[in-house]
Amino acid sequence: MFALLGCGYTGERVARRLLARGLPVLATSRRPERLSLPGARLLRVDLDDPSTLDDLRRALPAGVRVLHSVPLLRDAYGGFRDPTPELLSCLPTSTKRVVYLSTTGVYGGVFEVDETTPPAPRTPRETLRVSAEDHTLAGPWSALVLRPAAIYGPGRGIHVSMRRGEFRLLGEGTNFVSRIHVDDLAALTDAALLSEETGAWPVADLCPAQSREIAAFCAELLGCPLPPAASAPELSETRRANRRVDGRMIARKLRVRLTFPTYREGIPQALAAEAGETQSEEPGAFSETG
Ligand SMILES: NC(=O)c1ccc[n+]([C@@H]2O[C@H](COP(=O)([O-])OP(=O)(O)OC[C@H]3O[C@@H](n4cnc5c(N)ncnc54)[C@H](OP(=O)(O)O)[C@@H]3O)[C@@H](O)[C@H]2O)c1
Repeated sequence: MFALLGCGYTGERVARRLLARGLPVLATSRRPERLSLPGARLLRVDLDDPSTLDDLRRALPAGVRVLHSVPLLRDAYGGFRDPTPELLSCLPTSTKRVVYLSTTGVYGGVFEVDETTPPAPRTPRETLRVSAEDHTLAGPWSALVLRPAAIYGPGRGIHVSMRRGEFRLLGEGTNFVSRIHVDDLAALTDAALLSEETGAWPVADLCPAQSREIAAFCAELLGCPLPPAASAPELSETRRANRRVDGRMIARKLRVRLTFPTYREGIPQALAAEAGETQSEEPGAFSETG
């Protein structure tokens, strides 16, 4: 069985890939009723409600393969806490495989990142991510950590925040942004669950680009003016990032060829998918995080 703990934006796509091949899937969410995954077993798991962790413990069979994609949670004091120890304590010791979706945030202020770059966390949030990775890798199972750059796709990314009038460039927009299309991340995660590769790896598409370049591309597609600039303190950590991530090594090891090697393929696909969704249903209401 495959247990997808935190079946959100990426997890749902991983679930669909596995289900399409007839594989058994258990998917967790705080609101499993929002998941549309025919054939999957859905389970409510909320780390703020410990009784749901007992349900999870009972639901996980021997030899399970697990995706952990629950982000850091807010603590009672407005800071962050890492749910990894609690979550992984529910796994049977016979768990075969754990894949953890971490973040390139663990590289802190390093500009050029590839598979040889060690983590260099600067903030408590980045440090917690490194400890979540270490916890995952220290378990009695085979484990792999994927560190995705900004995840984008239908309903998420610069094109969404620009359309809402919320996007701001950092100064002149010369900072580099690395990203990965959610479908490519799902393909890598799917392969990772079935592979025996171990360790922690950066994940990104083939095209780190200055944020003004991507903003200009989106503005032209959307037919709107280039957004105004903002200073660093006004922007989220993600928007302030300045990082060029080379994620080719893990894609090669997992034998995954990216469908969206650059934003020039990925953003038009996201817009087309959103247009399709708007015709048939409400557009996705994902917020941009990470
Ligand atoms: N977004 C980015 O650009 C980005 C970039 C790099 C790394 N990451 C990291 O990659 C991972 C996957 O990202 P994503 O965007 O696919 O995640 P997502 O859509 O935010 O999904 C997160 C999942 O975690 C679950 N979760 C959140 N709080 C929980 C709680 N208190 N108890 C139990 N479950 C909880 C959510 O439950 P519900 O289904 O109830 O919402 C959801 O299923 C995350 O760790 C994220 O931080 C994200």
